[in-house]
Order: sequence, then C-alpha cells, then structure tokens
Amino acid sequence: MNTSPTAGDMFDLSIAIEKEMVAFYCRLRQLFGNLPVIRDFWGEMRDEEIEHIVQLRMLRDSLPSEKLSEEVDPAWVEKGVRILGEIQSSFEEPIANLNQAYELAHEWENGEINRIFLFLAEKYIGDKARMKIAEKMIDNHLERLMEFIPGYQTAADREAVRASG
Ligand SMILES: [Fe+2]
Repeated sequence: MNTSPTAGDMFDLSIAIEKEMVAFYCRLRQLFGNLPVIRDFWGEMRDEEIEHIVQLRMLRDSLPSEKLSEEVDPAWVEKGVRILGEIQSSFEEPIANLNQAYELAHEWENGEINRIFLFLAEKYIGDKARMKIAEKMIDNHLERLMEFIPGYQTAADREAVRASG
C-alpha cells in the first residue's frame, strides 16, 4: 500500500480490522467465561463483528473491478493501519477486571473503526435502503455497548468483577 491506495485495499484493511475485533471480543468472552450474562454479552458483540465482516465482503464482492481499483484518500488507509496496530498491540496488555474490558471496547467502538465502515458503505453502497440497513447495524452495535449489562452500568460495579480466564 505504499503507492496510491485503492478502494479494494481499504475494504481489505477494514475487514482485517473487523477480524481483530472478533478476536478482541473472543478474548473478553473467555476472560469472563465463568459469568454467563457477561460472557454472552461479549459473545453477541463478537457475532455482530462477524456480521460486519460478512457485510463488508458482500459489498466488496458486489463492486466491479473499476470501482475497486479507484484511488482513495491515503489518510483513510493511514488511519486504518494505525487502528489495526493499536488493536493488535492491545492483546499484549493484561485485562484485570470488567471495567478495563469495557473501557477498551468503548475506546475501539467510539474510535474510527465504525467511521471507516460507514465511509465505505456511504461511498459504495449507492442504494438508500441498503445504506439505512448498514447505518442501523452500526447504531445497534454501539447502543448495545452504551447500554451494557443491567447491574454493571457503573465503573465501580464493573471494577468489582475480576477477569478469570
Ligand atoms: Fe464493533
């Protein structure tokens, strides 16, 4: 990607980021594996990341090669590469309790990952109804994290839950 990045590169990068998010939520699911409500919450977040990958792949595969070879602003690729590196290096950091897990999820979800997803959707879907579905999918995913799990909505509640895995 050292010469002009293309839309195809951007899709590949975005899919790579979503895959890291799947791994991230799998890790959280394991860390809280002995607490079913919490384990299942992270499992659902993971499943939604898998759905994002499916959608991105479908969108990419639906595009003609001229579209995929269109140049994109290198700033988007730089952002994507940086995020990918940040998620990957987070795997080396220990997570001691549910609040640390939550803060990390919050950081990724409210950062640029979803903006990259929506950038690709807006630029390449070209169909209002399908675009609405993509927006809704991201909104629901973010809302799920914002609402979180009843009984674990404050930092103090979450800090009391030690990671076990
Ligand atoms: Fe996500």
